[in-house]
Amino acid sequence: LIIVPDVENYLSKFLPERDSLLLRLEEEAKKEGIPIIHLDSMQLINVILQWIKPKRIIELGTAIGYSTIWLARANPNAVIETIERKKVYVERAFFNIKEANLEKNIIVHFGDIFNILPNLEPADVIFLDAAKGQYQELLELSFTKLNEGGALLIDNILFRGFLANKEEVETKPMLNKIAKFNEKLAIDYRFLTSFVPIGDGLAICYKKGRF
Ligand SMILES: C[S@@+](CC[C@H](N)C(=O)[O-])C[C@H]1O[C@@H](n2cnc3c(N)ncnc32)[C@H](O)[C@@H]1O
Repeated sequence: LIIVPDVENYLSKFLPERDSLLLRLEEEAKKEGIPIIHLDSMQLINVILQWIKPKRIIELGTAIGYSTIWLARANPNAVIETIERKKVYVERAFFNIKEANLEKNIIVHFGDIFNILPNLEPADVIFLDAAKGQYQELLELSFTKLNEGGALLIDNILFRGFLANKEEVETKPMLNKIAKFNEKLAIDYRFLTSFVPIGDGLAICYKKGRF
């Protein structure tokens, strides 16, 4: 847990409503252990997106399309390109996106981000939610595909709060990688970054203009 339980419980009353499709996906994710974004983080992203009105959004890590549907609904005029390497997830994401009637807004790419992202046009927002151990390399690649003034949104930067536990970080290689990633990101002059203790930890990074 990242927020104290009383506060989490209090805030849970204010979570946004979902339609039957999103509720079904939440249920499937829970049952099958599919990692999808926490609702409070999703709502923060929703607010940011309505604000900055991006024309192009790239999502790294689609899973079954839960966050993808949120991204598209927040921005009906935007093109969303999303990348996923697990075939079974891609098939389910296609199906779910079709059910949401969003197949005109969303392009799902099947394959590895490192092969696909270099061929995409730059975007105004990149949502990074793929393999946590690859975040450093993914950040560098994302930087080249993010317009100046754009937003890079990164999920799981607190990983269930373990990042605050020194012993866990020292003994678990994946946590160690996220810890090093966060430290570098905090002093990365190319971005202005806020580490938000919401959901599983969300970094909000503004790509500076001329520097
Ligand atoms: C946390 S899940 C995505 C959840 C989704 N964004 C949501 O909130 O509904 C991460 C996904 O990224 C995919 N992934 C991880 N590394 C990848 C890579 N290098 N290329 C493509 N997909 C990757 C995994 O297969 C997994 O389905």
